[in-house]
Amino acid sequence: MKVFLATYGCQANERDSETILGLLAEMGYEETAEEPQADVILLNTCCIREKAEQKVFSYLGTLKQYKQARPGLVIGVCGCMAQEEDMPKLIRRRAPHVDFILGTHVLHRLPDMIRGAGHGAGLRCDREETGGIAEGLPSARRYPFKALINITYGCDNFCAYCVVPYVRGRERSRLPQDVLEESRRAVAEGALEIMYLGQNVNSYGNTWGAAQGRGGFAALLCQAQEIDGLRRIRFMTSHPRDFGDDVITAIAECDKVAGHIHLPVQSGADRVLARMNRGYGREEYFALIQSIRRRLPDAVLTTDVIVGFPGETEEDLQDTLDLLEEVGFDSAFTFMYSPRRGTAAALMEGQIPLEVKKARLRRVMEAQAASSLRLHRLLLGRELVVLAESWEEGVLSGRGEGNQLIHFPGGPQGVGCFHRVTVTEAQTWTLKGEVRGGE
Ligand code: 5AD
Ligand code: SF4
Repeated sequence: MKVFLATYGCQANERDSETILGLLAEMGYEETAEEPQADVILLNTCCIREKAEQKVFSYLGTLKQYKQARPGLVIGVCGCMAQEEDMPKLIRRRAPHVDFILGTHVLHRLPDMIRGAGHGAGLRCDREETGGIAEGLPSARRYPFKALINITYGCDNFCAYCVVPYVRGRERSRLPQDVLEESRRAVAEGALEIMYLGQNVNSYGNTWGAAQGRGGFAALLCQAQEIDGLRRIRFMTSHPRDFGDDVITAIAECDKVAGHIHLPVQSGADRVLARMNRGYGREEYFALIQSIRRRLPDAVLTTDVIVGFPGETEEDLQDTLDLLEEVGFDSAFTFMYSPRRGTAAALMEGQIPLEVKKARLRRVMEAQAASSLRLHRLLLGRELVVLAESWEEGVLSGRGEGNQLIHFPGGPQGVGCFHRVTVTEAQTWTLKGEVRGGE
């Protein structure tokens, strides 16, 4: 029996996909990359922007032919879209060949859903409004040498544009012993690098009073540092409002913790940041960058930017462009604001026309491209410690400590190993290099 799984969206979804494949492996399913061979086709969806949702519907459209050819084929929709209130109605109307919808809080019920699918039952729907923490689910890691590990689920920040708190529920932190136990197990199974995941890793443990110094995120990093055999620790995403000095200290003191901080700024304008409900202003963001740079001069900073948030003026956009220039991010994910049903911003006055958003996005992307190229050129001749993730035609590809993507000559046996790579060519999005010594 075979399963085809399509994953959309962020790292949290990548991690859920590993659980989905783990659950299916226990049922005797093998993954396939070819839809026509699959007995089960699953979509792990994302609804953070409208475009992601449109992609899912257009893909579901293409699946109709497979279902017609093989009525026994099971098609299921999991992930964030499954949690949206009107999704059952929409799927019944736009993709009646889907067998089930399974919410993010009840992933463990996937095997039951698959067993019960078909038999003319129509669209079955299993989801819950809120979730706890399901420990001990199986997982089939995509890369044996790289483990994604959740430390928190959900989000309590309610940024005005964002649907995540509604679909992923209230913020819950896993206990440090559970996170560390999963980390040790991953390392015992061959992981060299761990990525700790949370919508706001800096609020890890707030529910048990970590803010008062009882075992928050910084403490977790220091404990993970002690795991024998683990080479590198990454984390994502940091929230500028909650990023404390203790985390800067942990990064400085723990040599396994990568000096890469993904610190979404979203906008450079105070007015916009306030309307977004981000909880910090431009000057506070700069102050944080300064304290990071003072203590971690080599840290690589990356960010997320949204253009065209309701009410954003030309002047506000200029503030964002100035901020990008002044900080100098290694890379940035740049988005056009996309109104999401149920969020505060969707109802705000001053929605920006698509054409204006597109033009602003172009300007932000151009500014970022210039920064990326400038920073990448500074790396020429420097050596990066790279974990190779893939190989194709004599070229290994992997990421440096700062998450820079670099390609360098090597053999397929180099995948899953660390290499010391000297940067020989700098481009906007990627680097090229070569290994000059041993590891
Ligand atoms: N429109 C555009 N971008 C969004 N993001 C989240 N919600 C929206 C939205 N409605 C972006 C933010 C966030 C990243 C994961 O996605 O920049 O940091
Ligand atoms: Fe969304 Fe804000 Fe939570 Fe990030 S911190 S998931 S942008 S609500």
